[in-house]
Amino acid sequence: LRLNSLVGKPPTLFDFHGVWMTCRYTGNWDALQTFQARPDDILIATYPKAGTTWVSYILDLLYFGHLSPERQKTVPITERVPFLEVTNLTTASGTELAEKLLTTPRLIKTHLPVQFVPKSFWEHNCRMIYVARNAKDNMVSYFHFARMTDLLPEPGDWTCYFQSFLAGKVPFGSWFDHVNGWWRKRRTYPKLHFMFYEDLSEVTKTEVMSGVKFDSMRNNAMTNYSTYPLMKFDVSPFMRKGQVGDWKSHFTVAQDEEFDEDYKKKIDPTLHLRTEI
Ligand code: A3P
Repeated sequence: LRLNSLVGKPPTLFDFHGVWMTCRYTGNWDALQTFQARPDDILIATYPKAGTTWVSYILDLLYFGHLSPERQKTVPITERVPFLEVTNLTTASGTELAEKLLTTPRLIKTHLPVQFVPKSFWEHNCRMIYVARNAKDNMVSYFHFARMTDLLPEPGDWTCYFQSFLAGKVPFGSWFDHVNGWWRKRRTYPKLHFMFYEDLSEVTKTEVMSGVKFDSMRNNAMTNYSTYPLMKFDVSPFMRKGQVGDWKSHFTVAQDEEFDEDYKKKIDPTLHLRTEI
């Protein structure tokens, strides 16, 4: 798929092996199945809008921050950390960008549910990081992102999106299935580190790396997605608010109750995310 054929055409959802997906993320399926991971690859996995860019940038700086200042000013995070399953939006698909990466380790981003991760990553026993964000903030962030990008189907209004999200009828499927699936995987796969957006928020308050703070990343063209196609920044910025607890400005009392009821039924009882923030 070429960029021109995508502009102005938000994709439609379909059931892909039991998960709602769009062709932007399944269009490259054969290449994904045969993708060759390397033993030192690090896979950064998240449900969309859980802090992927933040963790990607932190890891990139930790591993490669000492490299040339030019790299910091000229290489967008989307090229330093390729998005594995995305189809070709500019010059290459996610798998092609990953194949071309010259860094060791390669940092690779995915939003795939755990059962869709290419088998090569497991065979090579690769390190993986999963970032989870509290569901309510994650939903709000995903809603605003869907409004501002042609990468995703139209979200409708907030009331409509609220129901779609709870039903898992959004790209990459149910938030619950996603976090539960990755959380359970960690029991049998010790190289998976499971972490939380909210902890990152705490840690980086005192962090000396000021470059990874929200305002800094929002103003940095290499991390704010201003170089990426299919974004409507006049609708909403990619780096929107970066806050914990922003859901309170969106959820009605009735939605909050409905959400909490659903949450209790669906979340793995051993997984404790901060819902009451
Ligand atoms: P909001 O929409 O709530 O602002 P992803 O990178 O997975 O797409 O996630 C994007 C979300 O992470 C956005 O949330 C964005 O603002 C937030 N984010 C990105 N960098 C951040 C940072 N340095 N500090 C706090 N939040 C950040």
